[in-house]
Amino acid sequence: MDLKQQLQDLLEQAQNVFSKVNGQNDLQERKAEYLGKKGVFADYMAKMKDLTPEERPTFGQTINEAKAKINAFFEDAKNRIETAEINAKLQSESVDVTLPGKEIVPGRKHILTQVVEEVEDIFVGMGYTVKEGPEVESDLYNFEMLNLPKSHPARDMQDTFFITEELLLRTHTSPVQVRSLLENTNHGPLKIICPGKVYRRDDDDMTHSHQFMQIEALVVDEKARLSDLKGTLLTLAQKLFGDTREIRLRPSYFPFTEPSVEVDVTCYKCNGEGCSMCKGTGWIEILGAGMVNNAVLEAAGYDPEVYQGFALGMGVERIAILKYGIDDIRALYTNDLRFNRQFK
Ligand code: DAH
Repeated sequence: MDLKQQLQDLLEQAQNVFSKVNGQNDLQERKAEYLGKKGVFADYMAKMKDLTPEERPTFGQTINEAKAKINAFFEDAKNRIETAEINAKLQSESVDVTLPGKEIVPGRKHILTQVVEEVEDIFVGMGYTVKEGPEVESDLYNFEMLNLPKSHPARDMQDTFFITEELLLRTHTSPVQVRSLLENTNHGPLKIICPGKVYRRDDDDMTHSHQFMQIEALVVDEKARLSDLKGTLLTLAQKLFGDTREIRLRPSYFPFTEPSVEVDVTCYKCNGEGCSMCKGTGWIEILGAGMVNNAVLEAAGYDPEVYQGFALGMGVERIAILKYGIDDIRALYTNDLRFNRQFK
C-alpha cells in the first residue's frame, strides 16, 4: 500500500474515533494515541531516514498535512465535549423562575410600641422632648419628692416591689418629673414626656399586670395654667380617639398634683349615647392629670410663687386596650404571634 492510501485510511479511522470520543479522559487518551510523541506518526517519522534527501520534504509535508487534519478532528471533539459539559452544568444549576416563591412575613412593631410612638408623635408635635428614666428608682424620687412621704396613705395605691429600704422598681413614670426638674438647673421652661415600664405588686389577671407601661407628661414654666392642661388633653384625646371627641374633667386626688383630675373622653363607639364599651355612661376614663403640687416644685428647688406647671400620666396598655378593643391585658405580654400580627 502506498503512503497516500495508508494515510487516507488512518485519517478515516481517526475521524471515526474522534467523532465517538466520550468525555475528557477518552479525549486525552485518543489525543496521545494519534498526536502524541509515541503516537501513530512515530513510525512514519522513523521511515524518514530511509528516504533520499529529495523525497524527504514532500514526505514530511504529507505527514504534516495528515497530522493537521487529525488535529482538527481532535479540536472538533474537544469543542463537542466542552459544550456538552457546559450544557449539563447549566441544566443541573438551572432555576425555575416560574415556581411560586416562599412568603416572607416582615416583622412589625408590637402594638404597645406603636401606641407609645403615636403618643410621642403627638407630644413632639406640640414641642415636647422625650425623656427616659431608670426602672430601678430611689424611694426619694419615686415617692418622697412627689409629696408621698414614708407614712403617706396614698403609697398604698401603688403596691411596690422594694429592692432595699431605699431602692425599688418604679411604680410610675412620675419620678422622671423629679429628675427633669432637678436637671433643669436654670429653671427654664420644661416640656417633657417620658414613656417607660413601671412595676406593681399586682396579681396578673384580665385587667392587671405586674409590669406595664406609662407615659408621663410634664410642663413647668412661669405661666402654665389649668386651661393649657385642658387644651393639651383635648388635643391628645382627639388625636388618639378621633377629631370629634370631647373630654370631661372630674375632680380626683394625686399627691403630686393639686388640683387633680381624672380625664374622660366621649365614647368613640357610641359617640356618647351609651353602650357596653362605656358601660352606658357615654364616657370612658383615659388618664389622670393635674397642676403640679407646690410641694413637688419646692422639693425640686422651684419657687411656687414664680413657677407652675401641669402633668399627666396615662397607661399605655389602657390606651391600646381601648383603641383596639383588646379584652385581656395579658395578651399584650404573652406574645402569641397570631395576636401580635393583627396590628399592622
Ligand atoms: N403617677 C400616676 C399613677 O401612676 C399617674 C399620674 C396621675 C401621673 C396624674 C401624673 C398626674 O403626672 O398628673 O397612678
